[in-house]
Parts: sequence; structure tokens; C-alpha cells
Amino acid sequence: MARALQPVTHTHRLATEADIPALHAIMDAAISGPLSTFLTPAQVEASRMIMGVDSQLVSDRTYFLIEIDGVLAGCGGWSRRITEYGGDHTPGRVPALLTPGIDAARIRAMYTAPEFTRQGVGRLIVGLCEEAARSEGYSRVELVATMGGEPLYRASGYREIERFADDRGGVAVPLVRMGKSLKDTSADVGKT
Ligand SMILES: CC(C)(COP(=O)(O)OP(=O)(O)OC[C@H]1O[C@@H](n2cnc3c(N)ncnc32)[C@H](O)[C@@H]1OP(=O)(O)O)[C@@H](O)C(=O)NCCC(=O)NCCS
Repeated sequence: MARALQPVTHTHRLATEADIPALHAIMDAAISGPLSTFLTPAQVEASRMIMGVDSQLVSDRTYFLIEIDGVLAGCGGWSRRITEYGGDHTPGRVPALLTPGIDAARIRAMYTAPEFTRQGVGRLIVGLCEEAARSEGYSRVELVATMGGEPLYRASGYREIERFADDRGGVAVPLVRMGKSLKDTSADVGKT
């Protein structure tokens, strides 16, 4: 006799410092896995310099974890700080605070475990981040996407602002700055 399918349970919570080892592991797996299909092997290795755990997001309590049936499936967050992307080890961080209503909040450090991609984890985290930023008075969000992240953000209503490359890892890694208005979620008002 066929067994009834058990419902999949997604839960979310804010990450704490105790989660940081697990965050390193999921980010490493996501860079080696889903991101690697968009880049050359040299670009994947260079990406590790400009991606990874930003413990400031954890201490700010703006970094979400998604668990599916109790297993860490993805992570990502938002920020009230100027730093646009990168981990604790990435040069050029600017931790000064943004101003709600004037500056765009950031979406930061989105990673889904390879075995949980294309199940809505990324989209769920983007929605949580937008809701949190809106509740603190931000009317716009901007982010810097990898080539692996761009399809998720396009599907979430973000529009391209500019393309550029970051060569601080020794090889030029293509990136795209994107933005979305939180005033009207049905229509993006990106600059381009
Ligand atoms: C980017 C990433 C977080 C997406 O996570 P995800 O949980 O798989 O995303 P979702 O399942 O919520 O995808 C939502 C939509 O985005 C789009 N999308 C996501 N990944 C895509 C891909 N690889 N190819 C095409 N479209 C994609 C689709 O429209 C998708 O909807 P669908 O599955 O119904 O077609 C994940 O691929 C990842 O960890 N990549 C490596 C790390 C990285 O580059 N992070 C981005 C930093 S900016």
C-alpha cells in the first residue's frame, strides 16, 4: 500500500553566533555547487575572496536561516549598513549605517544548499528581507548579484543597475548591481 507523502515543513529564524560554523559549510557548498555552473573554475575560486560569512549580519540579527524538516536548507539576509557584499575577510568593508527613507537597504549573502535549490528557499528569504527592511522604513533595496544569484533576483522583481567585475580574488568575477522599490511591489522602479 502506498504511504501518504509527508508535508515538507519550512521554518525560518534569525541566525545566531552558534550557527556560524554551519553557515561557512553551506556557503562553501553553494559556491562549489550552484554557483559553479555559471562561472569558470578560476572564477569560482576567486569568488571565495568576495563572498562568505559576514558576521556583522549575524550580530545585527538581520540574517535568516531556512530549515526544511529540521535541516539547514538556505541562508541570506539584509543590511542597514553600507557594505554591499563580501565576507569578514573581504577588503573594503564600510560598516557605517544607511539612512531609512534616503538610502537603499541591502540584500546580502544568499545561499541555498545544493540539495535544496529550486524549491523556493531563496525567494522566501528575499521576501523576509524585504518585509524586515520595509518595517524599518526603507523604501528601496539594492544588492550586488553573482551570475548565479541574478535569476533569483530577476524572478523577485529586481532590475539591473550596472554590470561590473571584481578582480580582488585574482581573476575578474562578473557581478551585477540590482535594485527594487519597496513602495510598489508590482512594478520595479530600478534606475535602468
Ligand atoms: C542563488 C541561489 C541562492 C538561489 O536559491 P534557490 O533557493 O534555488 O532559489 P529559488 O528556488 O527560490 O528560485 C526562485 C526563482 O529564481 C529563479 N532561479 C533560481 N535559480 C535559478 C537558476 N539556477 N536558473 C534559472 N533560474 C533560477 C527561478 O525563476 C526560480 O523559480 P522556479 O524554480 O519556480 O523557476 C542559489 O542558487 C545559490 O546558493 N547559488 C550559489 C551562491 C550564490 O551565487 N548566491 C547568490 C549571491 S548574490
